Amino acid sequence: MTNKSLIDLEAMTPQQIDKVIKKAKKIMQSPADFRHACDGKILATLFYEPSTRTQMSFQTAMLKLGGRTIGFDNPMNTSVSKGESLKDTTSIVGGYADIIAIRHPIEGTAMASSLYANVPVINCGDGGHLHPTQTLTDIITLSCEKGRLDNLKIGVCGDLLNGRTVHSLIKTLAKYENNSFVLISTKELSVPLYIIDILEKNGCNYEISNNLSDAISDLDVIYMTRIQRERFKSEEDYEAQKNVFVLDKDKLDKAKDDMIILHPLPRVNEITVDIDDDPRALYFKQAQYGMYGRMALILLLLQDEDFTISTRDTLTTEHKCKNPKCITQQEEYLPHLAYEKKGMIMCDYCDKRVD
Ligand code: CP
Repeated sequence: MTNKSLIDLEAMTPQQIDKVIKKAKKIMQSPADFRHACDGKILATLFYEPSTRTQMSFQTAMLKLGGRTIGFDNPMNTSVSKGESLKDTTSIVGGYADIIAIRHPIEGTAMASSLYANVPVINCGDGGHLHPTQTLTDIITLSCEKGRLDNLKIGVCGDLLNGRTVHSLIKTLAKYENNSFVLISTKELSVPLYIIDILEKNGCNYEISNNLSDAISDLDVIYMTRIQRERFKSEEDYEAQKNVFVLDKDKLDKAKDDMIILHPLPRVNEITVDIDDDPRALYFKQAQYGMYGRMALILLLLQDEDFTISTRDTLTTEHKCKNPKCITQQEEYLPHLAYEKKGMIMCDYCDKRVD
């Protein structure tokens, strides 16, 4: 089956990713050619969780394409505060807008919305699960700034446990030839085992490190991440992890001259501001590339009939997902959709095992 929603970047083929990159580059080269590409179209941004970049870059993307935007960034100012379900909100908004961009703190929400919206839905982050357009942003940046998506040694540093952007980036880059990874974190915040499985399945070399200063010297890319305070069980647990890895001038002095520094942002303390003017510091430019990537994605989803995204073969199961962070726990009417993976039954919303 295919559809026009982007929930998980895994569902896009390398050819489709390449198409988004090419389209984004074309828009960057001649933005005037796209000024009326979405005349008359409406984008709805439904943000149940805070955002600076994703929300505003999507809104700017649609405005630059000639379209208009509606939406909210505080659900408490909508009928959600009166108990309106996700199904009802997205069904209604799908009748107003041509495309929906949604962020929500609960895993699987974008997937659940796509069942009811009747227009393309773009996942702008669902809890600690997925954030596909951030990964598009990251790989467009790599393509433009390093000229390739393969043969890279990539260090990822910080909260590798909760960072949805890191998981998605590793999964995507693992598919390209001869990429290797250095996973820099504390033991408590190391990448989930399924990410290690993916690296091994794809034959990628990887190292595990707890020392940014030692690891940085032969990297092509360092991808810094924030320690995700909002995902910790207690403030005490967060305090023990914050500021463990800080990229500063001393550490940057050990890096290659052509290494680039990326960060999905927001930054807290993990990159000192005195390196913002270093030519290797590309995190602000990266956010701009994201806007062009989102313009390309909107165009392809709305206007390219061949640009359809494949969906998994799903089954309806009697098992209810037990993941307390899954949208099925909150929106009880949702069908129990699942898929099979290595003989296990997995939740189609949050990708956790249900049997
Ligand atoms: N990178 C990112 O998702 O930033 P925002 O949370 O500000 O959207």
